Amino acid sequence: MIRLEEAAVRRFHELSDKVLRSGFLSEGELTKQFEAQWQEFAGLPAVAVSSGGFALWALLEAAGVRGHEVIVPTNTFMATPLAVEKAGGKVVFADCNRQDLCLSLKDIEAVMTPATKAVVLVHIGGHLAFESEAIARFCKDKGLALIEDCAHAHGATLHGKAGGSFGLGGAYSFYATKTLTIGEGGMVVSNSNEVIEFVRSFRNYGKFAYKVAGFHGRMSEITAALGVAQLEQLPKILDWKRRLAAKYDEIFANRVSLPEGMVSGYYKYIVFEETLKEKTGAVYSDLCHSLRGVAGNFPESEWIAKHHSCPPIWYGYDGIDLNPEALRQRLLS
Ligand SMILES: Cc1ncc(COP(=O)(O)O)c(C=O)c1O
Repeated sequence: MIRLEEAAVRRFHELSDKVLRSGFLSEGELTKQFEAQWQEFAGLPAVAVSSGGFALWALLEAAGVRGHEVIVPTNTFMATPLAVEKAGGKVVFADCNRQDLCLSLKDIEAVMTPATKAVVLVHIGGHLAFESEAIARFCKDKGLALIEDCAHAHGATLHGKAGGSFGLGGAYSFYATKTLTIGEGGMVVSNSNEVIEFVRSFRNYGKFAYKVAGFHGRMSEITAALGVAQLEQLPKILDWKRRLAAKYDEIFANRVSLPEGMVSGYYKYIVFEETLKEKTGAVYSDLCHSLRGVAGNFPESEWIAKHHSCPPIWYGYDGIDLNPEALRQRLLS
């Protein structure tokens, strides 16, 4: 469950009224407005689509992975490997590391082959992968496409750069549990005009030149209206999460610790080997390779799956006393 600010509800009513009276329920002004505002927020061009999964699929198609290997962490949501399969790529699972729960360079090197064409870097938990810059340099050197799964990374930056800035592009999700939610929806961001144009065409069956074999991945104007309304509240949501995270930092010793230059949006707050009286969904207890019946040795991911948990940090987790002693008593046995 997530709370929508009263101001967002009012703004949505106003904007959706405008949509209904405009006569344009799809491909209209609100989608353009949501894209322009997300571009301003994330700092790179954006295309609104129907889901985070579609955003990933579109980027993988743009990268041309059909018939090639794509490295994906096993510690992710199933959307990541399935998007690779939809784009015709062969999923090669990789391990991750305990510091940030994301791929590190050595995990990529361990499974890379001459058939590798792309890497999907999944930013797990609300921060960006600590080694994003080194991984970006490596991919550029080796001629690999780097695609970022930014479903958790709303508001995260590394040295001022948002998710999606490091390689070919990034895929955001606005699913019901996400930091900025509009129920269903996604956004592709990319610094490449070519990629942005490809995705615009791919989300719309390749209209009108039909050179791109796309599919239906558009966002409706009513959904985009909620996007605009929610995005206006995002600074407030992120500020609340960051204030709670700062209090959690005082009471949890075994946790993800952010390096210098990293700003997290705190989709989740991640602790290790803690017994919590209250917690929210973990990221992730079931690893994709085992869910897909793929053999392999992923010791760090397996350790993380067993030993991490998440104290509540969803927007609307109210009535909490931010005094560290009160939080300690509320959350720890
Ligand atoms: C890491 C990750 N990737 C991709 C997705 C897919 O997003 P969507 O449900 O919007 O398709 C999600 C979330 O649901 C996710 O958590």
